[in-house]
This record gives sequence, structure tokens and C-alpha cells, in this order.
Amino acid sequence: MTPAWPTRPTPPDLPVTEAHVWAASLEIGANVLAECESLLSAEERSRALALRNADLRRKYVVSHGALRILLGQYVGDRPQNLMFATAPGGKPQLCKRHDNPENESIRFNLAHSGELALVAVARGLEVGIDCERLREVNEFERLAERYFHPAETKELLAAPPAVRLLNFLRCWTAKEAVLKACGTGIGEALPLLHIPLAECFAGWVDLSDLPGPVSGSHCWVTRLSPAPDYVAAVAVLGVPMPVHCFTFPMMALAGT
Ligand SMILES: CC(C)(COP(=O)(O)OP(=O)(O)OC[C@H]1O[C@@H](n2cnc3c(N)ncnc32)[C@H](O)[C@@H]1OP(=O)(O)O)[C@@H](O)C(=O)NCCC(=O)NCCS
Repeated sequence: MTPAWPTRPTPPDLPVTEAHVWAASLEIGANVLAECESLLSAEERSRALALRNADLRRKYVVSHGALRILLGQYVGDRPQNLMFATAPGGKPQLCKRHDNPENESIRFNLAHSGELALVAVARGLEVGIDCERLREVNEFERLAERYFHPAETKELLAAPPAVRLLNFLRCWTAKEAVLKACGTGIGEALPLLHIPLAECFAGWVDLSDLPGPVSGSHCWVTRLSPAPDYVAAVAVLGVPMPVHCFTFPMMALAGT
């Protein structure tokens, strides 16, 4: 799995007016896996150990290793020094000790599917990201009827059968990215969001029907194509902003 975006070992400056999205391949060798594992906290290691097979453990360890390396570069600290907290809805965030008094704090979100991890980063605004590997999904049209907005289901079922699964996954990732930005978990809120299915959609999504405390009435959603056979979307609460996408070279860690 080779991500489509330009490779950079370090992030460029991140102004408050932009979001960054990083892709990392989870297909790595034993030495990169060991390097990533050495960066994790005791809690992350025990979460990895609790996963049911070696494949899931590898994906967890590498995606969290990549997350730590990237966030460490944004906040100017060593990856193994980073400390995380969990917001009330379950969303992971950096502890306040990593805030810089001269700049807005770094917000992030992580997603993984298949052999791909994505990390979204912004300053001062909540972000959410989701990705899905293109694959068969049993009875996806019934899932759409249950979890999609009626207008989305109508648009999905009106499309030719050959593109319906792709459109289903595109819609799913956009909805999940929005709810991950809100940090509330996906729960019963999925059908309350209406997001157009267009391949290159970038635009506002109305949050006013969502239950519970949501810090904003709109979310800016951008659909992404991170790699062949993967779809993704990123959402930023409150402000429209361009998204710059990069690939982090996991294999370069083999020489560290
Ligand atoms: C977090 C959630 C919303 C997304 O889970 P997911 O799609 O399985 O996983 P993703 O790869 O998109 O995201 C996982 C990451 O989101 C972050 N996350 C966890 N809780 C979160 C929350 N409340 N808000 C935002 N982000 C959260 C974590 O960093 C997590 O990584 P980790 O598990 O390695 O620690 C999950 O609670 C959920 O309900 N998933 C259901 C997904 C589903 O049914 N998919 C079917 C697709 S066809």
C-alpha cells in the first residue's frame, strides 16, 4: 500500500488557517515495528497486548508510533514524552502541558483501515478523520437505510450499482469524520447528518440537528483520496480551511 501524497519526513509550518493530513503505511518490517513500540506508553503497550491477533497489534503499534512521531514534531517534544488525555466523549487529545502559550494548541485525530493510518492535525480547532479500505460490505444498502440521512440513501440508490459501494464508503467516512471532530462517538447521530456524495466534495455540513453539546453549528468537510483502494474524509469544526496532505515515510525509521 503506497499513499498517493508527497513524502515529507517533517511537517511544514501549520498556520491556524490550514489543516494537515498525514498518511502512513502500516506495512512495515520488524525493526520499524520495534522502533514504534519503543515510543509507546505503558498504557498503549497494554492496549496493544490486549488485541486479539498479531496483525491488529502491529497496526495499533505502528499507527500510534506514527502519531507520536508526527505530533512530537508539531509540539517540539520527543515522541515518547507525549502525554494524552481523553475528552468526556472519548476523544483522545494532547495534555495541556504540550500547549504553546504563543500559539493555538495542536488538535489531532487518528484513523486506520486496512494497511493505512491517517493523522489529521489543526491548530485550535477540533478535527476528525476517517478512512476505509475499499472492500465488500455485506448488505451496505440496508446499512445505508438504517444509518444514512434519507436524502443520502436516495442519492445512493439512484446511482448505478457499480458505484454504489464506493459511494457508500465515501459517505460513511465523511459522516464518521464529522462525528469524530465533534468527539461524541458515532452512536445514533449518523442519520442526522446530510453530506453530498460527490467524489470531490468540500463544503459545510450542518450540525444543528445533532444531540448534546457540540462546539459549533457547522463543520467543514473535505473528501480525500489517500491511496488506491482507500477513501477518506477530514472534518474541521467551525472554519473552512484548505487541507494539505503528506505521506510520512515509515520505512525511514528502519535506519534510526
Ligand atoms: C471512534 C469510532 C467513532 C471510530 O472507530 P473506527 O472507525 O473503528 O476507527 P477509526 O480508525 O476511524 O478511529 C479510531 C481512532 O479514533 C480515535 N477516537 C477514539 N474515540 C474517539 C472519539 N470519541 N472521537 C474522536 N476520535 C476518537 C482514537 O485515536 C482511535 O484510535 P485507537 O483505537 O487506535 O486508539 C468508534 O467509536 C466507533 O463507534 N466505530 C464504529 C465504526 C463502524 O461501525 N464502521 C463501519 C464502517 S462500514
